[in-house]
Amino acid sequence: MAIFAANFKCNLTRGQTQTYLTELDSYASKNHIKDDIFVFPNQTALLPNTYACVRVGAQNAYCAENGGFTGEIGAQQLKEFGIDSIIIGHSERRTIFGESQAFVAQKFAYFAKAGFTIIYCIGEDLGVRQSGGVEKFLREEFVGIDTQYENLIVAYEPIWAIGTGVSAKLEDIAQTHEFLRGFLDSALLYGGSVNETNAGEILRVPNVDGVLVGSASLEISRFCKIIESL
Ligand code: PGA
Repeated sequence: MAIFAANFKCNLTRGQTQTYLTELDSYASKNHIKDDIFVFPNQTALLPNTYACVRVGAQNAYCAENGGFTGEIGAQQLKEFGIDSIIIGHSERRTIFGESQAFVAQKFAYFAKAGFTIIYCIGEDLGVRQSGGVEKFLREEFVGIDTQYENLIVAYEPIWAIGTGVSAKLEDIAQTHEFLRGFLDSALLYGGSVNETNAGEILRVPNVDGVLVGSASLEISRFCKIIESL
Protein backbone atom coordinates (compact mmCIF):
# COMPACT_ATOMS: atom_id res chain seq x y z
CA MET A 1 0.00 0.00 0.00
CA ALA A 2 1.17 3.51 -0.73
CA ILE A 3 1.02 6.48 1.64
CA PHE A 4 -1.49 9.24 0.88
CA ALA A 5 -1.06 12.49 2.81
CA ALA A 6 -3.38 15.49 2.55
CA ASN A 7 -1.93 18.86 3.51
CA PHE A 8 -4.80 21.31 3.92
CA LYS A 9 -2.45 24.25 4.60
CA CYS A 10 -4.46 27.39 5.50
CA ASN A 11 -7.71 26.02 4.06
CA LEU A 12 -11.03 24.64 5.33
CA THR A 13 -12.76 25.39 8.59
CA ARG A 14 -13.00 23.13 11.61
CA GLY A 15 -16.55 22.15 10.62
CA GLN A 16 -15.54 21.34 7.06
CA THR A 17 -12.55 19.35 8.30
CA GLN A 18 -14.74 17.37 10.68
CA THR A 19 -17.16 16.40 7.91
CA TYR A 20 -14.25 15.53 5.62
CA LEU A 21 -12.53 13.33 8.19
CA THR A 22 -15.70 11.44 9.08
CA GLU A 23 -16.35 10.68 5.42
CA LEU A 24 -12.74 9.84 4.63
CA ASP A 25 -12.44 7.52 7.61
CA SER A 26 -15.54 5.60 6.58
CA TYR A 27 -14.19 5.41 3.00
CA ALA A 28 -10.87 4.07 4.31
CA SER A 29 -12.66 1.57 6.57
CA LYS A 30 -14.77 0.24 3.70
CA ASN A 31 -11.68 -0.13 1.56
CA HIS A 32 -9.59 -1.67 4.37
CA ILE A 33 -6.95 1.03 4.22
CA LYS A 34 -5.51 1.53 7.67
CA ASP A 35 -2.78 3.94 8.82
CA ASP A 36 -1.59 4.84 5.31
CA ILE A 37 -3.78 7.92 4.93
CA PHE A 38 -2.74 11.07 6.77
CA VAL A 39 -4.65 14.34 6.98
CA PHE A 40 -2.89 17.50 8.14
CA PRO A 41 -5.63 20.05 8.92
CA ASN A 42 -5.18 23.69 9.77
CA GLN A 43 -4.28 24.33 13.41
CA THR A 44 -7.74 25.57 14.40
CA ALA A 45 -9.22 22.43 12.86
CA LEU A 46 -7.04 19.92 14.70
CA LEU A 47 -9.23 17.01 15.70
CA PRO A 48 -8.50 14.07 17.98
CA ASN A 49 -6.33 11.49 16.31
CA THR A 50 -8.81 8.77 17.16
CA TYR A 51 -10.22 7.81 13.77
CA ALA A 52 -10.23 4.10 13.01
CA CYS A 53 -8.16 4.31 9.81
CA VAL A 54 -7.06 7.86 9.02
CA ARG A 55 -4.27 9.54 10.95
CA VAL A 56 -4.66 13.20 11.85
CA GLY A 57 -1.35 15.08 12.05
CA ALA A 58 0.06 18.57 12.57
CA GLN A 59 1.24 20.78 9.72
CA ASN A 60 3.61 22.54 12.07
CA ALA A 61 4.45 23.01 15.73
CA TYR A 62 7.14 24.64 17.81
CA CYS A 63 9.89 22.52 19.31
CA ALA A 64 8.87 22.94 22.94
CA GLU A 65 6.34 21.46 25.31
CA ASN A 66 4.77 24.91 25.87
CA GLY A 67 5.89 28.43 26.82
CA GLY A 68 6.33 31.98 25.53
CA PHE A 69 6.05 31.34 21.81
CA THR A 70 3.29 33.65 20.61
CA GLY A 71 1.30 32.24 17.72
CA GLU A 72 2.74 28.74 18.00
CA ILE A 73 1.44 25.44 19.25
CA GLY A 74 3.66 23.05 21.20
CA ALA A 75 3.84 19.39 22.12
CA GLN A 76 1.39 19.89 25.00
CA GLN A 77 -1.34 21.05 22.63
CA LEU A 78 -0.65 18.19 20.21
CA LYS A 79 -0.79 15.65 23.01
CA GLU A 80 -4.30 16.77 23.93
CA PHE A 81 -5.40 15.58 20.48
CA GLY A 82 -3.27 12.44 20.50
CA ILE A 83 -1.36 13.79 17.49
CA ASP A 84 1.76 11.77 16.74
CA SER A 85 2.69 12.84 13.21
CA ILE A 86 3.99 16.14 11.89
CA ILE A 87 5.23 17.79 8.70
CA ILE A 88 8.65 19.40 9.08
CA GLY A 89 10.66 21.36 6.52
CA HIS A 90 7.82 22.21 4.12
CA SER A 91 9.06 24.74 1.57
CA GLU A 92 6.34 27.20 2.58
CA ARG A 93 7.73 27.17 6.14
CA ARG A 94 11.27 27.52 4.84
CA THR A 95 10.59 30.30 2.32
CA ILE A 96 7.57 32.29 3.59
CA PHE A 97 8.33 31.92 7.31
CA GLY A 98 12.10 31.91 7.02
CA GLU A 99 12.81 28.59 8.75
CA SER A 100 16.53 27.92 8.38
CA GLN A 101 18.02 24.46 7.99
CA ALA A 102 19.36 24.72 11.56
CA PHE A 103 15.87 25.51 12.90
CA VAL A 104 14.24 22.77 10.84
CA ALA A 105 16.84 20.32 12.19
CA GLN A 106 16.11 21.47 15.75
CA LYS A 107 12.39 20.80 15.25
CA PHE A 108 13.18 17.45 13.68
CA ALA A 109 15.34 16.40 16.65
CA TYR A 110 12.66 17.48 19.12
CA PHE A 111 9.79 15.60 17.50
CA ALA A 112 11.95 12.56 16.71
CA LYS A 113 12.84 12.35 20.40
CA ALA A 114 9.11 12.40 21.12
CA GLY A 115 8.63 9.48 18.70
CA PHE A 116 6.50 11.33 16.13
CA THR A 117 6.13 10.10 12.56
CA ILE A 118 7.84 12.90 10.66
CA ILE A 119 7.06 13.78 7.07
CA TYR A 120 10.25 15.62 6.27
CA CYS A 121 9.98 17.82 3.16
CA ILE A 122 12.75 18.76 0.80
CA GLY A 123 12.79 20.28 -2.66
CA GLU A 124 14.63 22.69 -4.89
CA ASP A 125 13.42 25.85 -6.59
CA LEU A 126 13.44 26.38 -10.33
CA GLY A 127 16.78 28.19 -10.34
CA VAL A 128 18.50 25.23 -8.69
CA ARG A 129 16.86 22.77 -11.09
CA GLN A 130 17.89 24.80 -14.11
CA SER A 131 21.47 25.19 -12.89
CA GLY A 132 21.78 21.41 -12.41
CA GLY A 133 22.56 21.61 -8.71
CA VAL A 134 19.60 19.57 -7.47
CA GLU A 135 21.49 16.73 -5.77
CA LYS A 136 23.87 19.02 -3.90
CA PHE A 137 20.93 21.20 -2.81
CA LEU A 138 18.87 18.26 -1.57
CA ARG A 139 21.86 16.82 0.30
CA GLU A 140 22.16 20.11 2.17
CA GLU A 141 18.53 19.84 3.27
CA PHE A 142 19.58 16.78 5.28
CA VAL A 143 22.19 18.63 7.34
CA GLY A 144 21.40 17.93 10.99
CA ILE A 145 18.68 15.39 10.11
CA ASP A 146 18.84 11.80 11.39
CA THR A 147 18.13 9.97 8.14
CA GLN A 148 18.07 6.66 10.04
CA TYR A 149 15.17 7.78 12.25
CA GLU A 150 12.71 4.88 12.31
CA ASN A 151 9.52 6.93 11.91
CA LEU A 152 10.81 9.02 9.03
CA ILE A 153 8.93 9.61 5.79
CA VAL A 154 10.63 11.89 3.26
CA ALA A 155 8.60 13.99 0.82
CA TYR A 156 10.34 15.32 -2.26
CA GLU A 157 8.45 18.43 -3.34
CA PRO A 158 10.08 20.59 -6.00
CA ILE A 159 9.07 24.15 -5.12
CA TRP A 160 8.29 25.03 -8.73
CA ALA A 161 5.68 22.26 -8.81
CA ILE A 162 3.86 23.18 -5.59
CA GLY A 163 0.47 24.79 -6.12
CA THR A 164 1.27 25.56 -9.75
CA GLY A 165 -0.84 22.85 -11.39
CA VAL A 166 2.30 21.61 -13.14
CA SER A 167 3.87 18.56 -11.51
CA ALA A 168 7.44 17.50 -12.16
CA LYS A 169 8.06 15.30 -15.18
CA LEU A 170 8.02 11.58 -14.46
CA GLU A 171 11.67 11.24 -15.49
CA ASP A 172 12.68 14.04 -13.09
CA ILE A 173 10.75 12.36 -10.27
CA ALA A 174 12.33 9.00 -11.13
CA GLN A 175 15.84 10.43 -11.21
CA THR A 176 15.49 12.38 -7.97
CA HIS A 177 13.87 9.50 -6.09
CA GLU A 178 16.60 7.15 -7.26
CA PHE A 179 19.17 9.60 -5.93
CA LEU A 180 17.32 9.80 -2.58
CA ARG A 181 16.97 6.02 -2.39
CA GLY A 182 20.78 5.89 -2.57
CA PHE A 183 21.04 7.12 1.02
CA LEU A 184 17.52 6.79 2.49
CA ASP A 185 15.68 3.65 3.62
CA SER A 186 12.53 5.60 4.56
CA ALA A 187 9.33 5.80 2.54
CA LEU A 188 9.68 8.44 -0.20
CA LEU A 189 6.69 10.57 -1.16
CA TYR A 190 6.39 12.89 -4.12
CA GLY A 191 4.49 16.17 -3.77
CA GLY A 192 3.79 19.09 -6.09
CA SER A 193 0.55 19.42 -8.08
CA VAL A 194 -0.46 15.80 -7.63
CA ASN A 195 -4.07 15.37 -8.74
CA GLU A 196 -6.54 12.65 -9.69
CA THR A 197 -5.26 12.66 -13.28
CA ASN A 198 -1.51 12.33 -12.71
CA ALA A 199 -1.43 10.38 -9.42
CA GLY A 200 -1.54 6.93 -11.03
CA GLU A 201 1.51 7.47 -13.23
CA ILE A 202 3.42 9.20 -10.44
CA LEU A 203 2.70 6.33 -8.02
CA ARG A 204 4.07 3.86 -10.57
CA VAL A 205 7.44 5.65 -10.75
CA PRO A 206 10.11 3.48 -9.10
CA ASN A 207 10.96 4.52 -5.53
CA VAL A 208 7.77 6.56 -5.14
CA ASP A 209 6.03 5.16 -2.06
CA GLY A 210 3.20 7.66 -1.87
CA VAL A 211 2.11 11.25 -2.42
CA LEU A 212 1.73 14.44 -0.41
CA VAL A 213 -1.20 16.39 -1.81
CA GLY A 214 -2.18 20.03 -1.26
CA SER A 215 -4.85 21.65 -3.47
CA ALA A 216 -6.30 18.43 -4.87
CA SER A 217 -6.85 17.05 -1.37
CA LEU A 218 -9.25 19.83 -0.38
CA GLU A 219 -12.20 18.11 -2.01
CA ILE A 220 -12.73 14.65 -0.60
CA SER A 221 -13.95 13.21 -3.92
CA ARG A 222 -10.68 14.25 -5.61
CA PHE A 223 -8.54 12.89 -2.78
CA CYS A 224 -10.39 9.54 -2.90
CA LYS A 225 -9.82 9.35 -6.67
CA ILE A 226 -6.11 9.88 -6.03
CA ILE A 227 -6.16 6.99 -3.54
CA GLU A 228 -8.00 4.84 -6.08
CA SER A 229 -5.50 5.60 -8.83
CA LEU A 230 -2.94 3.26 -7.32
P1 PGA B 1 0.02 21.09 -4.08
O1 PGA B 1 0.79 21.19 -2.69
O2 PGA B 1 -0.47 19.67 -4.20
O3 PGA B 1 -1.06 22.09 -4.02
O4 PGA B 1 1.03 21.39 -5.16
C1 PGA B 1 1.62 20.16 -2.23
C2 PGA B 1 2.28 20.53 -0.93
O5 PGA B 1 2.72 21.67 -0.77
O6 PGA B 1 2.41 19.68 -0.03
